[in-house]
Amino acid sequence: MSNAEKLFILAKQNRENAYAPYSNFKVGAAILTTNGKFFGGCNVENSSYPCGTCAEAGAIAAMIASGETKIAEILVIADTECITPCGNCLQKIAEFADASTVIYCANLNKIVKSLTLNDLFQPFSLR
Ligand code: THU
Repeated sequence: MSNAEKLFILAKQNRENAYAPYSNFKVGAAILTTNGKFFGGCNVENSSYPCGTCAEAGAIAAMIASGETKIAEILVIADTECITPCGNCLQKIAEFADASTVIYCANLNKIVKSLTLNDLFQPFSLR
């Protein structure tokens, strides 16, 4: 099984446990680190909206808690045509990634796009 397939399965499993009673939009994420370790996360919402956390943040927290710090690939999955990380999450990913870090955007059936962090995160390009 390819790393992309492993990421897809892990993110989909994590998505099942998402706590999203306010938006009803469950999201899963999975990270492969440069050391070959896998971590998953899901969104965890809160009745106080800003207290909620995205799936990517959960996966990053799990990675950091285990002592890993470099993202090689990250996959995000939701029940929509194709999901890309929000701006806040791109900033969080960038802290532990580089321009070539792979971001897979998936729906419940398949990976729809394979992008790099550089494709999605160019904070100074519009200034
Ligand atoms: N969400 C994520 O978990 N990741 C994203 O990349 C986009 C949005 C969550 C946040 C909130 O719980 C729900 O999706 C609706 O925005």
